[in-house]
Amino acid sequence: MALEKQDAEDLLNSLPTPILVVDPNDRLTFANPAAEALLQTSAAQLRQTSLDELFGFGSAVAGLIRHSRTEVMPMAEFEVHISTPRMHPDRISIATAPVFKGGAPDPGGDVIVQLTPISIAQRIDQQMRRQGAARSAAGMVSVLAHEVRNPLAGIRGAAQIIESAVEGDEKALSRLIADEVDRIGNLIERIDVFAEVGPAPRSPVNVHEALDRAYRVLESSGAFAGLNVIDQYDPSLPPVRGDFEGLVQIFLNLLKNAADAAREGGKEVRLRTGYRQGIRLASERRSDAGMLPVEVAIQDNGPGIPEDLQRNVFDPFVTTKSNGHGLGLAVVAKIIGDHGGAVEFESEPRNTIFTVHLPLYAETETVR
Ligand SMILES: Nc1ncnc2c1ncn2[C@@H]1O[C@H](COP(=O)(O)OP(=O)(O)O)[C@@H](O)[C@H]1O
Ligand SMILES: [Mg+2]
Repeated sequence: MALEKQDAEDLLNSLPTPILVVDPNDRLTFANPAAEALLQTSAAQLRQTSLDELFGFGSAVAGLIRHSRTEVMPMAEFEVHISTPRMHPDRISIATAPVFKGGAPDPGGDVIVQLTPISIAQRIDQQMRRQGAARSAAGMVSVLAHEVRNPLAGIRGAAQIIESAVEGDEKALSRLIADEVDRIGNLIERIDVFAEVGPAPRSPVNVHEALDRAYRVLESSGAFAGLNVIDQYDPSLPPVRGDFEGLVQIFLNLLKNAADAAREGGKEVRLRTGYRQGIRLASERRSDAGMLPVEVAIQDNGPGIPEDLQRNVFDPFVTTKSNGHGLGLAVVAKIIGDHGGAVEFESEPRNTIFTVHLPLYAETETVR
C-alpha cells in the first residue's frame, strides 16, 4: 500500500516516538510532536537549528547521524547521553537511517532519527543490575558477619566467666569487654539484612500504614523539623504483598534521605501513592515475576543527587554525608528485591523522586 505524502507526515506526527529528519547540511527539517516534547523545543525553532547547535559540537547523536548519511546504512546506539540547551540531560537510545528516495536509500541525503527515551521498564532493569552489584557486595558482608558472630559469642561467654571470678576494677573491665562485644553484635545485626534472599514476604500490607509508621518514627527524632511534608495518598489503594517491617524500613530510609535533602534547600517533602497499570518487572531471578501496580513516590525539592553519584547510589558505602553510612539505599534495594518489587529514581536540582513499585496482595493467594 502506498501512502500519500500528507499521510506520511500525519503518520510521523502521530507516532509516540520522537522522530527528527536531518538534511544533508545537518539542518533539522522535521520534528514530530513527540520530538518537540522530548527536546522541549518547537518544530519551528528546531527547523532553524543545526545538529551541532542542538546537541553540542561533536555529540554522539550528531556523529551517528553523519555516519548513517555517509555509509548509507542504519545505525543504532543505546543509552546515549544527550543534552540540549533546553532539556535536562538524559540517556536515550537512538536509531538513524538514510531516508529513501524513489524506493531506495538516498546516499548523502536526508537521515531520519528516532530518539527513544529510556522507559520506566528499562530504568527498572538497570536498577536490577545495580541491585546485582549491591547483592554481591552484600553477600560478602553477610558471610563475614556470620564468621565474626561465632567467635564473638565465645568472647562474650568468656568475659562473663571472668566477670564472676574477679573483683573491683577488673570486674568493670570484663564488663567493658561484654558491652563492646554486644555493640559489635548489634552492628552485625544491622548488616545482616543483606543476608541472602529468603522466600518473598507474602502478607497483605497497607502501604499507608507502613508509610505513616516510618513518618512517625522520623518525626519523633526531629527529622522533619522546619520542613513542609505533603501527602497525596490514594485512599482506594489495595494492600500490597510484603512484609510490614521491611516496608517500614524502606520508607524510613527513603524519607530520611528526602528530609536530609529538603533541609538543604526547598524544605518540602511529598509522599504520593497510587495505582498504575502495566508496570511489569522482567527478571530472570523470579519465577513469579508479576505486575507491580502499586507505586509509592517520595519526592523532595532539595539539591538533587550529584550526577556522578547517580549510577552508584544504591551501592553500599556510597555516601556524601559526613555522618552517613551509605547503607540506606543499599538496604532499600535489598528489601525491595526480596519483595519482588522495584525501585527507581529520577533526580535533578530541586526535584528528586524515588519511586517504589510493589506487587498486589491477591486475596486468593495461598500462603506457602
Ligand atoms: N533524596 C536525595 N537527594 C539527594 N541526594 C540523595 C537523596 N537520596 C540519597 N542521596 C544521595 O545518596 C547517598 C546514599 O544514600 P544512602 O544510601 O541513604 O546513605 P546515607 O544517607 O547514609 O548517605 C547520600 O549520601 C546522598 O548523597
Ligand atoms: Mg540515607
